[in-house]
Amino acid sequence: MKIVVSGLRPTGRVHLGNYWGAVKNWVDLQAGYACRYFVADLHALTTDYADTSAIREATLEAVTDWLSVGLDPERSVIFVQSQVPQTAELALVLGMITPLGWLERVPTYKEQLEQLREKELGTYGFLGYPVLMTADIALHRAHLVPVGKDQESHLEICREIVRRFNGMYGEVFPEPQALFTETPKVPGLDGRKMSKSYNNTIALSDTAEEVAKKVMSMVTDPRRARRSDPGNPDECNLFPFHRLYSSQEERAEIDRGCRTAGLGCVDCKKWLIRNMNAALEPVRAKRAGIVASPGYVRDVLESGGEKARALAAETMKGVADAMKLL
Ligand code: TRP
Repeated sequence: MKIVVSGLRPTGRVHLGNYWGAVKNWVDLQAGYACRYFVADLHALTTDYADTSAIREATLEAVTDWLSVGLDPERSVIFVQSQVPQTAELALVLGMITPLGWLERVPTYKEQLEQLREKELGTYGFLGYPVLMTADIALHRAHLVPVGKDQESHLEICREIVRRFNGMYGEVFPEPQALFTETPKVPGLDGRKMSKSYNNTIALSDTAEEVAKKVMSMVTDPRRARRSDPGNPDECNLFPFHRLYSSQEERAEIDRGCRTAGLGCVDCKKWLIRNMNAALEPVRAKRAGIVASPGYVRDVLESGGEKARALAAETMKGVADAMKLL
C-alpha cells in the first residue's frame, strides 16, 4: 500500500476553508492508502518562535477537529511532529547535503521575508523550512503528499533533496509525489479567501446559532441592492457554499430564483443555514463526545507518536547504514 504523509501547521480550530482544502481529502485518502498525518508544530516555530504561547492549545484543538470529521486513529497514524525526535535528526542530516542556493531560491522564502518583516525571519530555521519538511516526508518514506498548490515549491525542493541523497548514498527514499487536490472555492464571510488572519471564518465547531449569524452577515451579489433586483449566483459569495452543501435540485432552484429575483438573499441564506447545519451537526456531536472524554485526544497522539517513532527508527537505521555511520 502506498504511503501518504501530510501535515498542517497548528492554527487552532479547523474552519471550512481548511476542511474543504485539506482535511476532507485526508479523510478520503484513508480508504486507499497508509496515511500518516501530523501537526507541524516545529514548522510553527519557524515564524512564531518569539511567541509560542498559542501552539499547544492550537495543536489540541486542531486534532480534536480532525477526529470529529473522520480521521480515524485505527487506520491512520496521527501525531505531533515534535514528538518524533527523528524528524530533527533527519533534518540535520539532510541539511548537510542541501545547497544554500536551493533554499534561497524558494519563492515563498523571499515573499515571506518581505511580508512578515516584523517577525525577523533572518534565521537559520526559517531558511531551512523546506529541509524540515523534507525530513517529515522522507522519514515515512512517503510516496504521496497531499498539499495545496501553495506548497508546490516546497515539494519540488523536497524531491531534489531526496534525489541528491539517493544519488550520494543509495536508494533509501522513494521520490515523493505531490498530490494536488482540486479544492473547491471557499470564500470567507467578507468575500476574501477564508483565513483566520482575516477573521472571516466559519469553524467546524461553531454552534448552529453562530453559523446562522455568520451566514446572515455574509456579503451577497452587490447587484441585489433591493429585493426586486435580479442577481447572478456566479458573482455571489454565498453560492460557492450552496455548491458544497445544497443538492443539485436545490441549486437549480436557487440559481433561477436569484436570476429572476423570485428568491431573496435572506431566504437563500436561510436555505444555506439549514443545509450547512444539517451537515455540521454530526461533526459537532462527534466533537462533543471527544471533548467529554478527557485525555482522549492526548491518548490518540500518544499512541500515534509511538507508532510514528517506531516507523521513523526503521528509516533512520536505513539512513545510518547507507551513510556508513556506526
Ligand atoms: N508546510 C506545510 C504547510 O504550511 C505543512 C507541512 C509541514 C507539511 N511538513 C509537511 C505538509 C510535510 C506536507 C508534508 O501547510
